[in-house]
Amino acid sequence: MDLSNKVAIITGAGGGMGQVVIQKFLEMGAKVSAVDINVDAIGELAEKYPDQLLVTTANLTDEDSVNGLVQKTVDTYKQVDILLNVAGVAQAAKNIEDVSLAEWERIMAINSTAVFLTSKAVVPFMKQKNRGSIINVASVSVDRPRPGLNAYVASKGAAISLTKALAIELAPYNIRVNAINPGPADTKMLAEFVPAGGDQSEAKENTFRSSVPLGRLITPEDIANCAVYLSSDLAQMMTGSVVNVDGGRGI
Ligand SMILES: NC(=O)c1ccc[n+]([C@@H]2O[C@H](COP(=O)([O-])OP(=O)(O)OC[C@H]3O[C@@H](n4cnc5c(N)ncnc54)[C@H](O)[C@@H]3O)[C@@H](O)[C@H]2O)c1
Repeated sequence: MDLSNKVAIITGAGGGMGQVVIQKFLEMGAKVSAVDINVDAIGELAEKYPDQLLVTTANLTDEDSVNGLVQKTVDTYKQVDILLNVAGVAQAAKNIEDVSLAEWERIMAINSTAVFLTSKAVVPFMKQKNRGSIINVASVSVDRPRPGLNAYVASKGAAISLTKALAIELAPYNIRVNAINPGPADTKMLAEFVPAGGDQSEAKENTFRSSVPLGRLITPEDIANCAVYLSSDLAQMMTGSVVNVDGGRGI
């Protein structure tokens, strides 16, 4: 799988999955435009890959920021072949009557509206080239919800519905749109799903790890491998697919 002629915008660059996904895309030869509201964590990678990595701090819920980062990518690398939406926020499990409207709107804005904004901004450039691959990281919790993750599950469900809607809309332009559903993954986000006051290490083992039939938490590498495949020409007949990378959690 050679990505050396590809340019990828990858969001969530500062997070547990994003950093590893970016590293993998750089190793496969892609040029990467890495985006996060906090990019501190990828300083080292930027030093190691000065010609392959463009780093931008942006709030993905702001349309002007999103348009700006896409234009900056095209100005630098002349094209966008891949959009990989990794950025997201968790929700501490709570009953619906305790979820404020502001909390609901914040989760929807990052987990679904940002997917709309980034897709909207890259599609004109992909249409010009008559090719592209958009990959949205959702969650297997859409198929197998846990109690109290109401806003989170709804926001990821919207991302999956948008994936399918765009897959059919953009197929005539040879732009493929797919989603990855991670199962419980070993990043800092996992602890953020635990209800306020809950025991995080107990939940990691007894709620999350034990729910995975293959017996371990998902790693960022597992997600990166799937993202590389979906981005590559090996997946050229895949569009509108939702791929569970979850160790069987979704069964
Ligand atoms: N960790 C899990 O168990 C798990 C399970 C299923 C799905 N997911 C999904 O995988 C993706 C990656 O999660 P992770 O585990 O790396 O989490 P993480 O919290 O480590 O990383 C998420 C990143 O998104 C960034 N971000 C949040 N809001 C932003 C905004 N408005 N603008 C720009 N960047 C913003 C954060 O700064 C952070 O760096 C997320 O979409 C998450 O919902 C995670």
